[in-house]
Amino acid sequence: MTTVKYSLDEFVHNMEALLATQPEEQSIFDSGASWLEKLINNPDAIPAQYRVPVGTGKRPNHGSYVLYQGESGLLVTAVVWGPGDHASPHDHCTWGMIGVMDNALTETRFRRVDDRSKEDFAQLEQDRSAVVKPGEVSLLIPEVDEIHQMDNFTDRPTVEIHCYGKDLRGLDRHRYNLETGQISPFVTEKYDNC
Ligand SMILES: [Fe+2]
Repeated sequence: MTTVKYSLDEFVHNMEALLATQPEEQSIFDSGASWLEKLINNPDAIPAQYRVPVGTGKRPNHGSYVLYQGESGLLVTAVVWGPGDHASPHDHCTWGMIGVMDNALTETRFRRVDDRSKEDFAQLEQDRSAVVKPGEVSLLIPEVDEIHQMDNFTDRPTVEIHCYGKDLRGLDRHRYNLETGQISPFVTEKYDNC
């Protein structure tokens, strides 16, 4: 008997149909996370060229590839973290879901403990740190629980699928300096495949 695996097309179809109903954020997470879990359990869900670091340019040990972008704002990407790759604390300014497909990634979450009265200052405290493994999904909840740092402490690439409510290209986001409290604005300009 052949087992039919859940595909990227099915994931996108299900997500777009859900988003068309203008659901509450919790409904997006309830259904979307279960679909993303199915997707990352299919090792053939994304092409082989999107499972490796890009190998060139400013960040050769990293890869970020757009798999789907929709007029609803839905963005699905493959993100590859080579050994030792790191992303300093940052936010997303939209809802998001991250699923690990291969290997593992250490994700550290932070919460803001300042009163948000200063525009370019944030005091962060570490909330938790976890090694996220294949088949596991973590959620990004805007304003509530979305500031994170990522590290690949292993000796081989980690492959993830990310899903966001908005195209991150051109979206105003922020990096956070844990020592000084400085907030620095940044914008994702492009992905490695477009
Ligand atoms: Fe992130």
